[in-house]
Amino acid sequence: MSSTHLKVIPISDLRVGMFVTKLDMSWLDSPFLSHSRAIKDTSDIRALRDAGVKTLTIDLSRGVDVAPPSEDTSAMAVPATAAPITPRPSRRPTSGQPPSLRPPVEPASLDRELRVAAHLRSKIKKAVENLSRALESGSPVDMGELAPLVDSTLDSLERNDQALMSLVHLSRKTQRLSDHVFGTFCLVLNLALLRKIPTAEREQLGLAALLHEAGWTQLPLNLIGKRSRYTEAERGLVHKHTLIGNQILAHSDLPELTRRIVAEHHELLDGSGYPAGLRGEQIHPLSQLLTVVDVYEERVHQLTDEPGVTPTNALRSLYRDAERGIFPADAVAALISLLGIYPPTTAVMLDTGERAVIKEHRADTPLQPRVVIYYSADGSVLEPPIEIDLRQVTTPPRMIESAIDLTAPGNEQWRRLWMSEEDLSA
Ligand SMILES: [Fe+2]
Ligand SMILES: [Fe+2]
Repeated sequence: MSSTHLKVIPISDLRVGMFVTKLDMSWLDSPFLSHSRAIKDTSDIRALRDAGVKTLTIDLSRGVDVAPPSEDTSAMAVPATAAPITPRPSRRPTSGQPPSLRPPVEPASLDRELRVAAHLRSKIKKAVENLSRALESGSPVDMGELAPLVDSTLDSLERNDQALMSLVHLSRKTQRLSDHVFGTFCLVLNLALLRKIPTAEREQLGLAALLHEAGWTQLPLNLIGKRSRYTEAERGLVHKHTLIGNQILAHSDLPELTRRIVAEHHELLDGSGYPAGLRGEQIHPLSQLLTVVDVYEERVHQLTDEPGVTPTNALRSLYRDAERGIFPADAVAALISLLGIYPPTTAVMLDTGERAVIKEHRADTPLQPRVVIYYSADGSVLEPPIEIDLRQVTTPPRMIESAIDLTAPGNEQWRRLWMSEEDLSA
């Protein structure tokens, strides 16, 4: 498209028959699915004015110019493929209030938030599955479906982040891509809240988390969670998924930062990542944040050919890798502070010999979470299980001694410690 066809005009000059290519606000700050649209009738002009648009860029090769060529605008040619301007569903105010001012969110109890979070999880996973199908068939990303998920997830995390954090960890027995994306998305948004990342960047980061494995849709499905080591050829294919993702997302109208984060989510600080082998500051800080969360989720979830590990061991390995200069130490420390040494749903041994599961972690008392004890010290099943807040003095006094790896040989007998969703809300 030649720039000589482009003209910046005030909203007062906008009329039916023009073709808009750009607004004076970022995509995330506007209520529209796309900024590139034909103006088909006066309601389109009204929608733009109501959204707070002051100036816009029109393309003279695809629509009319400012000077009215005739009195009857209804007869003007409008490209046949042009879709009407559809407001993007969003809870964010569109004018008069900067996007960083989110309405305050009231805290909620874990039990109450769990119901909301479970519903949100099915919406996120369904959206990711729809997205995968669309990308497989070469269709562009439907932002109208994805963007509101970021806001709803941030709201849930702000009300009580333990609900989504528990659901993320509960699904670690599955190897579906949608589970991995759900986990990565929730974790990175929670980390972004903790680190006070500005709203606009946080939302672009959230979109990147939803899209970061787009390239996997073009790879053989048996490579996800493969139980034996990849062959050289298979590893080569897996390493291509960021480039493939970039290619298929090129057809979509995405924020620039989102594209960059998707492209860089396997780059490592020491230059040993892929596809470009970028180092240190060459990698955007938000890409580094997504990488840390993505690797944690992959290690817990067994997305590749690496055997899955417990959340505690995944955090331990990330910590060691940060010391070796592979990941940013501050981001790893933030993740540990967010999840605790024993993330929700982790099976643990108490110093009394009892076996329990972490139900709720609190950042201010990381070693004293709420736990549910399923086995007494002599190994017998407690029915019903006992829920205890380790912050309170109990008889006998209890402390966490260590995490239990339920997949390790000999630990099959403690199967009650694989917490289910019903256990969480019981
Ligand atoms: Fe990836
Ligand atoms: Fe990933």
